[in-house]
Amino acid sequence: MNKKSRILVTGGCGFIPSHLIDKLVEEGFNNILSIDNLMGANANFSKNEHCEYQYADIANYKFLDTLFEEEKFDYVFHLAANANVPYSSKFPEVDFSSNALGTFNILNLCVKYNVKKILFASTAAIYGEPAYTPMDEKHELLPRSNYGVTKLYGEKLGLAYEKTYDLDFTGIRIFNTYGPRQSRYVLYDLIRKLSANNKQLEVLGTGEQIRDYSYISDTVNAFFMAFTNPKSRGKIYNVSGGKQTSIKELVAKICEELNIDPEISYTNQSWKGDISNMTGSIDFIKQDLGFEPKIDLKKGLKLSIEWFKHNNLI
Ligand SMILES: NC(=O)c1ccc[n+]([C@@H]2O[C@H](COP(=O)([O-])OP(=O)(O)OC[C@H]3O[C@@H](n4cnc5c(N)ncnc54)[C@H](O)[C@@H]3O)[C@@H](O)[C@H]2O)c1
Repeated sequence: MNKKSRILVTGGCGFIPSHLIDKLVEEGFNNILSIDNLMGANANFSKNEHCEYQYADIANYKFLDTLFEEEKFDYVFHLAANANVPYSSKFPEVDFSSNALGTFNILNLCVKYNVKKILFASTAAIYGEPAYTPMDEKHELLPRSNYGVTKLYGEKLGLAYEKTYDLDFTGIRIFNTYGPRQSRYVLYDLIRKLSANNKQLEVLGTGEQIRDYSYISDTVNAFFMAFTNPKSRGKIYNVSGGKQTSIKELVAKICEELNIDPEISYTNQSWKGDISNMTGSIDFIKQDLGFEPKIDLKKGLKLSIEWFKHNNLI
């Protein structure tokens, strides 16, 4: 794979995409362009000096058409999206515009301008309530949120384009990813709340919801492995830490790491579209690409909390 290849990363000012850019640069790919409309841009984001950044909305086909024509991208990492599930229910039109229309535009332009490969950030939210856990890639797909539906559309369209237009497409179904630079989602919210008030904590839901946490460097490694291995063509992979953790356990681990013992209460009611158990089997990506998560939750929490402290965020 030529290290001078022109690479487009959509959503490059976001949490996972910004780490992905760092990983690509670390691996010697430094001819990268990022586009982002800053809609959900990461508050803790910092630019990589080897990447160019442009403000753009992936719903704007005309703009993208000119960009693709001029830039002649070899590879595309498509991660731009509304990544916020409750927001997708509140503003379905924004979710549709970024996740469905935006993905449609990117896929069409990849075909039109002969992009060699596209990797797409999908999500565990496309499974819906589990019929069994851990969910493997063959589990039925019955998303409960607008977000899950628009992401499922992106996956299905990518797979159809692989067959119809011979586009090399790979989808990565990401489970809860966490780590430095994160500025949203449950783990970050808990850390922030606990560091602001170490005596009391109110947790959304029952605390029994189960999640499967993947440390950021493991998630971006999975993208990189899929990028560099031709076997990934036309495939969808789960990427998670491969371990079940309840919110209660997560809170306990964060408290241990922060060395605090607060009084904890639960609201019992969670947000609409929340899933009780979101845990994934990573057997397929292990067998097919040799992926193995390297950072367990204890180590990942330690690294994240150290980073938040170092950057005066907690
Ligand atoms: N964080 C997770 O645990 C997780 C889990 C499952 C899937 N994902 C997927 O991974 C990707 C990255 O997630 P993240 O957590 O880093 O989210 P993020 O919000 O930090 O990053 C997404 C970026 O996309 C940009 N964006 C949104 N709409 C856009 C548009 N119309 N045009 C251009 N840019 C646009 C945002 O401004 C943001 O910077 C997303 O596709 C998300 O759906 C993330």
